[in-house]
Amino acid sequence: MAGALPLLTPMSEVAGRIAIQAGATALQMANGGRGVLLGGVPGVAPGKVLLLGAGTVGAHAARMALGLGADVTLMDISLPRLRHLDDVFGPRLKTRYSEAHAIEELACEADLVVGSVLLPGKRAPKLISRSLVQSMKPGSVLVDVAIDQGGCAETSRPTTHSSPTYIEEGVVHYCVANMPAACARTATQALTNATLPYVLALAGKGYQEALKADAGLRKGLNLYLGQVTHAGLAADLGYSCISPDAALE
Ligand SMILES: NC(=O)c1ccc[n+]([C@@H]2O[C@H](COP(=O)([O-])OP(=O)(O)OC[C@H]3O[C@@H](n4cnc5c(N)ncnc54)[C@H](O)[C@@H]3O)[C@@H](O)[C@H]2O)c1
Repeated sequence: MAGALPLLTPMSEVAGRIAIQAGATALQMANGGRGVLLGGVPGVAPGKVLLLGAGTVGAHAARMALGLGADVTLMDISLPRLRHLDDVFGPRLKTRYSEAHAIEELACEADLVVGSVLLPGKRAPKLISRSLVQSMKPGSVLVDVAIDQGGCAETSRPTTHSSPTYIEEGVVHYCVANMPAACARTATQALTNATLPYVLALAGKGYQEALKADAGLRKGLNLYLGQVTHAGLAADLGYSCISPDAALE
């Protein structure tokens, strides 16, 4: 598919699903959370989950959060994407167009916010300012999955699995930059399913023929015989760039 990131997709599927488990755990009192059970119980309202970004991470987080019985709102700037997920999940999923006022309104009501926005090749947009974090409920949780691209909250900084959370402005932050490692068995199988066809092509044809035969694989070429062949990488590092097609000729 044009513009797709086939090797990121399985990692995002895993991270999106982990985001809700991690968020639910962080919401527990002993972990600094406000003690809300995402599914609620009969007679008690479920927790409110806000998902920023309705891509792969957002869709899989929505699936998990709805599965737990939470009250879920999904935001994106892509209306086609919101329409698609509205069709897939039906009326239990609320969708909102992503803009500053709506984010502010919903983040202040949320028990759990998951940041999963991506602008390919760029740093994540800072959708949640420090002052918005200050306005969130004490003990609410922010899982910033986009931390590997800089994070989408001003208060986010990378954490690790050995110490995954910290509390800032009263909000529990979970900002692990390699979330799939928490479920390494599932993640490895998922990633291998996606990488194996490329590995077989590279091993069977040799890297030059495999690259020539597959336009998608060529787009993933970053360096070739000392030349930078990826425009974003070249721009970030200040090198000149040559197209993969030209480099392979
Ligand atoms: N921490 C981890 O372990 C981990 C693992 C996997 C992915 N990620 C990261 O998660 C992020 C999301 O990945 P993905 O595969 O879901 O990407 P994706 O491209 O499938 O989805 C990103 C979505 O963000 C939306 N978006 C862009 N700007 C927005 C805005 N201002 N408001 C709302 N939505 C906006 C896009 O329209 C798109 O639908 C990426 O930064 C990725 O690198 C992190």
